[in-house]
Formats: sequence, structure tokens, C-alpha cells
Amino acid sequence: MSKDNGVLIIGLLTAVTAMACGSSNREPTYWQDVAPILVEDCVACHQEGGIAPFSLDDPDQAAQWAEAVADATKERRMPPWAVTDDGSCGEFRSSRALSDEEIRTIGDWAAAGAPLGEPRDDLRKPEIPTLTGGVEITTPDFVPEIVGGPLAQFDEYRCFVVELERDKDLFMTGYDMIPGNPALVHHALLMLVDPELKIGDKPSNAERIRELDDLSPDRPGWSCFGEAGDGVSTDGTPITWTPGQGVIRLPEGVGVRIPQNHMLVVQMHYNMADEAVRGQSDQSVFQLALAESTPREGFFIDLAPLLKTLFVGETFSLEPGRESVVFTWEQPLAPLFRESSLQSIDLYGVMPHMHEFGRKIHMDVDQGGVNTCAVDVQRWDFNWQLIYFYQEPIVLTRQSTLRGSCDYNTVGRTEPVSPGWGTQNEMCLMGLLLVP
Ligand code: HEC
Repeated sequence: MSKDNGVLIIGLLTAVTAMACGSSNREPTYWQDVAPILVEDCVACHQEGGIAPFSLDDPDQAAQWAEAVADATKERRMPPWAVTDDGSCGEFRSSRALSDEEIRTIGDWAAAGAPLGEPRDDLRKPEIPTLTGGVEITTPDFVPEIVGGPLAQFDEYRCFVVELERDKDLFMTGYDMIPGNPALVHHALLMLVDPELKIGDKPSNAERIRELDDLSPDRPGWSCFGEAGDGVSTDGTPITWTPGQGVIRLPEGVGVRIPQNHMLVVQMHYNMADEAVRGQSDQSVFQLALAESTPREGFFIDLAPLLKTLFVGETFSLEPGRESVVFTWEQPLAPLFRESSLQSIDLYGVMPHMHEFGRKIHMDVDQGGVNTCAVDVQRWDFNWQLIYFYQEPIVLTRQSTLRGSCDYNTVGRTEPVSPGWGTQNEMCLMGLLLVP
């Protein structure tokens, strides 16, 4: 610590005195104490036209919702920010986590009957986040059907080639996805496919896509699990959209290359477990923020160790009727570095992903014996899946190993839950944004 101790102690005393006076002399009011917190952490969504169902920038509405607000913040359901963010496991950019003190202030305010206090006009309402100037890519208008089979019981995974006009390589620096029919869309991926690439004497990617597409001439696109379909090799997944994510901006100076000659393939995962949505259609829109160059080039990879047990070793199915079923995994990074001369690679962000049985998810980075907690979620919420970017990237080397766990609740199930792509199956997935 570089601060002079004397100054620090005086500062602390002042703060403590101020707090003591604050709490003994008056109860918290909307304008003085609560509105600054709401404006900072809630109003981007909770305003007229925002994604939340009611406004918190209107004093009367906020007062009306005071009990629910106190409850949602105390339980840390709101604001949506699933990761443990108290400094014990990673430090994240644009953190929405409330401090214990802020939560207490809101609770005290609600308990006091939500008094409004003296109005003020110095609080600036945040804008609703949008990706201005983004390029739009639209998926075909499509009516999904249940074709998933046992690993995706009520689902269809459909891939489409989408167009992005460009005369050189571009870099994606941010994105958003607006599902046309949110009740149907479970997730969406945008993948890069080199049309010329062929493995051995197999057909090239472009030829293979034509073959797959021809299998169902009366419906757009083709059936695809995992990635872009059987026999199609992808060059990474620049975009992963899951519910609740909102506008994503990559860390300053980082972009993901979209090569000029590559095809863009969208994978839409439609879920029809809810009978009401069967027969409905969807047409979704991706918005991409594009740059002609960026100082650093990043790429996304997904680690999917639970799915891997379907193909390697023994399948890990979740035992039914248990409050906690834990799956653990380990991924040494040496294979990732094998063919490159890189000494290290920066981990800029993580995207934990499970389905609806998920309770907790965790990942550590072991750097040759030194353990760093990379991400921890104690209350998994399928409806709020975010990408978390670090304030400072975590440096990964050839000696590093990633270790993770997923914890599921299978109470109410009578049959084991198989790993798989369906919403009723499970995953233990960790998306990583890596920057060499
Ligand atoms: C990223 C957008 C977003 C932010 C930020 C956000 N909310 Fe919400 N909130 C929503 C949406 C969407 C819903 C309705 C869906 C749901 O309940 O998840 C909601 C629902 C709620 C509810 C009712 C449901 C419940 O869980 O009790 C309360 C209360 C609430 N928000 C309070 C807050 C407060 C207080 C903050 C800030 C401290 C906040 N929200 C920040 C989007 C947001």
C-alpha cells in the first residue's frame, strides 16, 4: 500500500463518523440514499423502454416496488450478476455487484416505508445499452420442429449460412443478438467456416454444407449439433448468445477476426419443451460492431468436458433425485500450446454455461502449483447468462491447468440426466476469450 498511514487512518475515522451520523440521525430516503444506487446499477434496464418489466427511476414506482427490491437485492437475484464478486474469485470489468452496505441501505429504506425525501436533479439516468452503428445479420424465418432425439428431447439445432458483405478481413469488437421469438430461442452461435478447408479426402466445408443442406430441401438450413454440423470444421465461435446476456463489448483494443473468405454459419438452438411454442416461427437478428483493425486479436473457445464424456471414457450421467450431483474436470493447457511458439496467452473473459439443473459452477487456474480462482457462481440462473471480462487478464502458460466443477440439483427427476444438447440434458461448459 503506497498511501501514508496517517492519512488513511484520518480518512477511515471520517468515514466511520459519517456512517454513524448517517444511520443515527435519519433514515435512508429514496432521493438521498437509494436513487444513486438504482441509477448506477438498475436503471439501465429498469426504465421506460428498457428490458425490465418496471421502472426504478420513477420515485413512486420505486417506492411501490421497495419490498421486492429489498428482497431481490438481499438474495442477490438482482442486479443480474451471477459470479462471486467480493474479491475472493476474480475481479471483473463493469461489475454490477452491490456492496453489503448498499444492500443494507436499500433494506433499511424499504423497512422505513420507502420515504422519498428531498428531490434532487443531479443524478444522470444511464442510457439503455444498444450497439449503435452495428451491422445486422438476420436468420431465415424458420419454424423449428422437434427432431433432437434422446440427447435433445424437445429441441431442434439448425444451422444457416448468413451473409456479411465485406471486401477485406474485419474485426468483431462487440455484438448483440435480438431473438425474434424469445420463448423458442435457447441459444445462438455465430461460427466461422473456411469453405476451402478439407480434411484428407473428405469433402471441403462448402461441399459438405451443400450436402447437409440438400437433406431437407423444403426447409432452410441443415440439422447440426455441437457446432456447424457433422463433417463441417469451424474456425472458432466469435459469438455465443444466451438468455439475459445483453450487449457485449469486448475489452478495449481486442477484436475477433472475421476473415474475408470465410463463411458465417449461425447455429440456432430452438427449445420446444413448452407445448405452447410448438408451431411458432422465429427470425432473429445479430448486430455486430466491426472494425477494420484492432491492436490485439482474440478468439473464443469452449471447453465442454461433460459432453466429452459421451465420446471419451465413461458417460457421466447425473444421478436423479439428488440435491447435489457434482461433476469435476481438468484441462491441462499444454495441448493448446503444442504447435505454437507462444510463451503465454491471456484469458480475458469467461462464460460459464449449464442448463436448468445447474446450481453452481466454478473454475480455477493452476499455474504450475499456484492456484488462482478464476470464476465462481453460487446461484446459477439459466435466465441470466453473462460473459464476465476480467479487469486484468489471467496469464495462462504451457504449464497451466484449468480445473472446474459443476453442481446440479436433480430433485424431482426419476431418470438419470444424460449430458447432451437439449435443454433437458446437461452441460458443464466454460467459454473462454483468449488473446495471444
Ligand atoms: C441487465 C438488466 C437488469 C438490471 C441491471 C437489473 N434488473 Fe431487475 N430485472 C430485470 C428483468 C429483465 C427482470 C424481469 C425478469 C426477471 O425477474 O429475471 C427484472 C426483475 C426485477 C425484480 C422482480 C423480480 C425479482 O427477482 O424480485 C426486481 C425486484 C428487480 N428486478 C430489481 C432490480 C434492482 C433493485 C436492480 C439494481 C440493484 C436491478 N433489478 C437491476 C433486468 C435487470
